[in-house]
Amino acid sequence: MIKNISVIGAGTMGNGIAHVFAQSGFQVTLVDVNAAQLEKALTTISKNLDRQVSKSVISEEQKANTLGNIQTESDVTKGVATADLIVEAATENTELKLKIFSSLDAAAPAHCILATNTSSISITKIAAATKRPEKVIGMHFMNPVPVMKLVEIINGYATEKPVTDKIIELSRQIGKIPCVVNDYPGFVANRILMPMINEAIYSLFEGVAGVEEIDTVMKLGMAHPMGPLQLADFIGLDVCLSILRVLHEGLGNPKYAPCPLLVNMVTAGKLGAKSGEGFYVYTPGSKDLVVSKSFSKD
Ligand SMILES: NC(=O)c1ccc[n+]([C@@H]2O[C@H](COP(=O)([O-])OP(=O)(O)OC[C@H]3O[C@@H](n4cnc5c(N)ncnc54)[C@H](O)[C@@H]3O)[C@@H](O)[C@H]2O)c1
Repeated sequence: MIKNISVIGAGTMGNGIAHVFAQSGFQVTLVDVNAAQLEKALTTISKNLDRQVSKSVISEEQKANTLGNIQTESDVTKGVATADLIVEAATENTELKLKIFSSLDAAAPAHCILATNTSSISITKIAAATKRPEKVIGMHFMNPVPVMKLVEIINGYATEKPVTDKIIELSRQIGKIPCVVNDYPGFVANRILMPMINEAIYSLFEGVAGVEEIDTVMKLGMAHPMGPLQLADFIGLDVCLSILRVLHEGLGNPKYAPCPLLVNMVTAGKLGAKSGEGFYVYTPGSKDLVVSKSFSKD
């Protein structure tokens, strides 16, 4: 039975993952090598719970219980000592994840399932860094975790069925909708999303239309809640570029080659919302969508 869950990495995704498990009554240990990040994560979780209270989604008591179910730890070995499940949500870097999984394998109890929230790194490769590849699985949450319903569950080459079944059941227990896919570059979510975003950037690059027109066509024409260029800014243009490179290299098809405009923007440090500018400019405190001067028509 899964009771104790350790979440590795207290960034954007880690705090959301800790939040949803704790809210469903699991004992969560949130682990990060950066102590300041743990403090920040607790503040973010508390603010997000406040929003749920103000919308009457949860009560004050549920908020207090949720916070009470989360403890923090900056030592990975201590943080996973009693875990039944570990969900790794550390920085997206292959070498780092291989190192993390090798140490999780050494420190976690033998029965513990090792899941990763990676957006694009091969589950099979991560599993090969452990002595329990049959217990390694992808558990890909979407951002923002407390809001988005999907969990893309990715079976590595060696993942055993009882492990997949447990992760499916657990996803349902926390109110999410699981969808099981196999381990090929980009899985399903990013294999389909990233070429769409890349094509939107190519359409801008080739002068087919402007930023607003491209996003408006996709929002109003295809009922997407956000246009592809705005979504790329939200995800981070560096993240989009690195996933496209995984698709390009892993599938060997030139159709996945990243648009040169995307490469240039990342090189110039225009990474989207997190850097203050991408296809749009972002001013703290303002929700207005303003096209970046680099793409404005006047
Ligand atoms: N941001 C998204 O929209 C999104 C969506 C789905 C999946 N993901 C995936 O989730 C993972 C995390 O992404 P994020 O956006 O939350 O990143 P982030 O940069 O916000 O957070 C990463 C955290 O990992 C910590 N970390 C680094 N090395 C560590 C180690 N050895 N042990 C413990 N903690 C360590 C960092 O201190 C940081 O707090 C990545 O694999 C990413 O691909 C991200």
